[in-house]
Amino acid sequence: MLMKATAIANSNIALVKYWGKRNSDLILPYNSSISMTLDSLNTKTTVEFNKEFSDNEVIINGKTVEGEEKARVVHHLDLLQEFVTEKVFAKVKSESNFPKKAGLASSASGFAALTLAGIKALDQNLTTKELSILSRRGSGSASRSVLGGFVEWNKGSLPDGSDSHAIQIEKEDHWPELSMIVTIISTEEKKVSSRVGMSQTVKTSPFYPAWLDTIESDVEKMKKAISQKDFVLLGQIAENNALKMHATMHTTVPPIIYWESGSLTIMKEVITLREEGKECYFTMDAGPQVKILCLEDDLEVIKSRVNKLDVVRDIMICHPGKQTSLTDDHLF
Ligand code: DP6
Repeated sequence: MLMKATAIANSNIALVKYWGKRNSDLILPYNSSISMTLDSLNTKTTVEFNKEFSDNEVIINGKTVEGEEKARVVHHLDLLQEFVTEKVFAKVKSESNFPKKAGLASSASGFAALTLAGIKALDQNLTTKELSILSRRGSGSASRSVLGGFVEWNKGSLPDGSDSHAIQIEKEDHWPELSMIVTIISTEEKKVSSRVGMSQTVKTSPFYPAWLDTIESDVEKMKKAISQKDFVLLGQIAENNALKMHATMHTTVPPIIYWESGSLTIMKEVITLREEGKECYFTMDAGPQVKILCLEDDLEVIKSRVNKLDVVRDIMICHPGKQTSLTDDHLF
């Protein structure tokens, strides 16, 4: 039997962020988070397990990867193979249509696609909840990419992490007008990974307890904003939540500053647009790219204004996207 399968996963951007783990081994967060799965940033991954292979091979965006990056994938393959009796080597080929490790959640779509493709290649059938838990073990944010539309990753409280998984708040067709303009200002890989960054923040930022103090209120307001399609509330909470997370990063010792001067230029442009009456808000993750939230009616105007800024190298437009799915169109 051919033990090979391919999955496509969309990336997701958090509207209420995950930052900080209570258990680094199981990847259990201190706080719940909410995201929007994106329709146009995706990763396609083919996994083949084969008794004839003499080693694992991992190819990401055309390059064979080694070292820590390969180890993280192989560790995940080992977890997947806990479902079967015999452990064999695998070939993994993965392609994303956006820059990796630049604050665009490449690990989210990457590990969600790897999990579904790997599990299918092993001929296992898991529930969405099980897939979300397993994807979470690869990268926390990947737990949310398993589902489409608007998603909550409930932090859970059980020590084994069996209640720490994503659930869908609303499907992708609930609010198709909600748009995200992803501005690319740099495609350089970040120097401090989210993994290392969040662990240092938890240990050293005096603002981290304050971050946790306001998070449940942000989660509740965000859920309300999504279900009632209240764009102003969604934008205000998302922007404020991102700034609070970055305040914990900036006050980490040594400091973690993902912003570039171009990031600030775009953030200020968003505020200016808002003063001019164009309803839009920004959010940022562990990288310099600024993502702008707006409604479809304002999209063209805001996009052309932002495009005029010389710090903007590229723009990608996203709307709520679908869950991770299988395809027969293998990469090898
Ligand atoms: C800032 O999911 O990449 O994007 O669990 O260590 O793999 P690990 O971290 P990761 O962190 C994402 C952090 C964030 C916020 C978010 O997506 O919620």
